[in-house]
Amino acid sequence: MTDVEPSAPVAGMPRIGDPAPSFTAVTTQGEINFPGDYLGKWVILFSHPADFTPVCTSEFMTFASMQEQFAAYNTALVGLSVDGLYSHIAWLRTIKDKITYRDMQDVEVTFPLIDDVSMAIARRYGMIMPGEDSTKAVRAVFVVDPKGVIRTIIYYPLSLGRNFDELLRVVKALQTADHFDVATPADWRPGEPVIVPPAGSCGTAEERMAGHDEGVECKDWFFCTKAIPEDEVEAAIRAGGA
Ligand code: BEZ
Repeated sequence: MTDVEPSAPVAGMPRIGDPAPSFTAVTTQGEINFPGDYLGKWVILFSHPADFTPVCTSEFMTFASMQEQFAAYNTALVGLSVDGLYSHIAWLRTIKDKITYRDMQDVEVTFPLIDDVSMAIARRYGMIMPGEDSTKAVRAVFVVDPKGVIRTIIYYPLSLGRNFDELLRVVKALQTADHFDVATPADWRPGEPVIVPPAGSCGTAEERMAGHDEGVECKDWFFCTKAIPEDEVEAAIRAGGA
């Protein structure tokens, strides 16, 4: 037995399925109201530990270079660190003017980067993990859906740069799950079989296996898949998801 209520929030940190905590913030693109300004869009709200640091620089260059790919899936990007606006502006200008990473150069970051010097937003979102660093945000990722609900949370430590292909895959998988009412298996990519609920909730395993819809393949009573062609998935989710 545990004395922790299963549904009790952990230190007030937002959880998957919660409404994204709302805030107003100063950013490099002007003031934003989150998530209100983004309703109707998917958003990736992410934190980084500090401006003028190398891992964060490589991340911003990668994210900025992929911004159009995310926009194609109706997904906006919003960054945050506990640095101030003028630090953000100077850092982003330095990235554009001086930094080359992989084949990226002259990279302009045009998505908003939040000034959170007070740490109020970082604390509210559980981005400060004192065991890692009490004065910097860890690399947190919150994927928020068009209704302002948190759908995925991923955390990385300070030393580990994120995999942005994975973040795009997460967006595509969430949108596919919503649109087709399915789940997506390990390492799923558009065009690969998706998971569907087994047909019927009663009967024997054999009956359940036999009773499935056309196009559904059951490996066992609990594990049924169906193919959705990549172009069908892409047409659905590129139209805006869900
Ligand atoms: C970096 O982005 O390189 C970094 C930031 C904070 C601590 C360690 C690394």
